[in-house]
Amino acid sequence: MLLRDTPNHYGSVTRLLHWTMALLLFWQLGGMIMKSVLGRVPLMKFWVGTHASIGVLILALVVVRALWALRNRRRRPAYSSNAIGQAARIGHILLYLLMIVVPALALFRMAGSGKGVTLFGIEFAAPTGQEIAWMTAPANAVHGLLAWTLLALIAGHVAMVLVHRFGWRDDTLSRMLGRRVDAAAPLQSSTD
Ligand code: HEM
Ligand code: HEM
Repeated sequence: MLLRDTPNHYGSVTRLLHWTMALLLFWQLGGMIMKSVLGRVPLMKFWVGTHASIGVLILALVVVRALWALRNRRRRPAYSSNAIGQAARIGHILLYLLMIVVPALALFRMAGSGKGVTLFGIEFAAPTGQEIAWMTAPANAVHGLLAWTLLALIAGHVAMVLVHRFGWRDDTLSRMLGRRVDAAAPLQSSTD
């Protein structure tokens, strides 16, 4: 089992981070979609109740993932130099930016809300009752908007993976699923 990435294949650390975070993001965004459809029914109370803690977990994981991606940037599958390859590079960078900015602004808002910071049932800061407006304003303005933008980008990302698989019939999905790519196969460029 290879921990690090290679030009033909993502290693197990990248794959574990990718699929764990994909699940957490589906939980996170799915919860908010269901809340807007169903309202605050009992199931949603639990689901939405995990929102801040799971969001901060996503923030912690994306920092680890970004550092790992930087460390592996010369080893992992390269982006092709054509327009599609460069669109894929920009798309992936935007996904990283939003995975950082969306939860970071919300955590900042929580810290400035005066209601205290409690995550996974642990109180990290007690309520003060005093809201700090400049800390809450950025998330109030854009947390939802940027989160829905992230959802749209994820939908585009998954659509491109399907195009690779069923349209162009290349091995892009395999290298993230973990099935071994034939070592003799030519290097593939990233274009989703
Ligand atoms: C990547 C992580 C996160 C995603 C994808 C996400 C996504 C969302 C979405 C889609 C909404 C609904 C917006 C709307 O109703 O139009 C929302 C609302 C909310 N989120 Fe998050 N969130 C994340 C992290 C966090 C974190 C870490 C916190 C708290 C520390 C948080 C606190 C809230 C709150 C209080 C609301 C309701 C107020 C508002 O819409 O701004 N979120 N989030
Ligand atoms: C069903 C859902 C998903 C599928 C099938 C999927 C599939 C893939 C595949 C096949 C690759 C490799 C692309 C290449 O080498 O060009 C990839 C890379 C990537 N995916 Fe996904 N993905 C999914 C969900 C997500 C989600 C939710 C995110 C987070 C926002 C995400 C973010 C990324 C990023 C940033 C990369 C670049 C490699 C990295 O730095 O980890 N993916 N994905």
